[in-house]
Amino acid sequence: MKDRIRFRLKEFYILEKFQVKYYESQLSTAESKYYRKAFEKMMEIEQGHVDFFVQELNSRNIDIPAVTGTLADMAGNFLGESVELTGPSKACTLGAALENRAIEMYQSFTMEAKNDACLQDKLMEFCLEEEFHSLWLQNYAWKLDNKTK
Ligand SMILES: [Fe+2]
Ligand SMILES: [Fe+2]
Repeated sequence: MKDRIRFRLKEFYILEKFQVKYYESQLSTAESKYYRKAFEKMMEIEQGHVDFFVQELNSRNIDIPAVTGTLADMAGNFLGESVELTGPSKACTLGAALENRAIEMYQSFTMEAKNDACLQDKLMEFCLEEEFHSLWLQNYAWKLDNKTK
């Protein structure tokens, strides 16, 4: 069980590190100030998630895993299919798919962490934040698609 948690903490550190990178990469492509603001905001939240997992890994003396590969490769790994990164509306749709995958992962981890109330509480909090992101991204993608038609 302990090993399982250790494995999970590393996996989630990589997931969150990737989420920060993903939103960061979108900042440079964004024309709208509002959109950029949203991605900055999400980046901040994801960085908070990264910091938490770093702290958990450190307190258990687990090495911080290296995060390698291109963004598209990493996105493909998480979703189990290859992806393309083009345009704001696609970036939102893909972002939502990635967030939904993160939510599934959080739900499993939350169940596995049932013997650690503190950790479980944090995981729930992060899962909720990923849900907020997913809903915003889906809604914004819808708006972008309907404005251009
Ligand atoms: Fe996150
Ligand atoms: Fe998120």
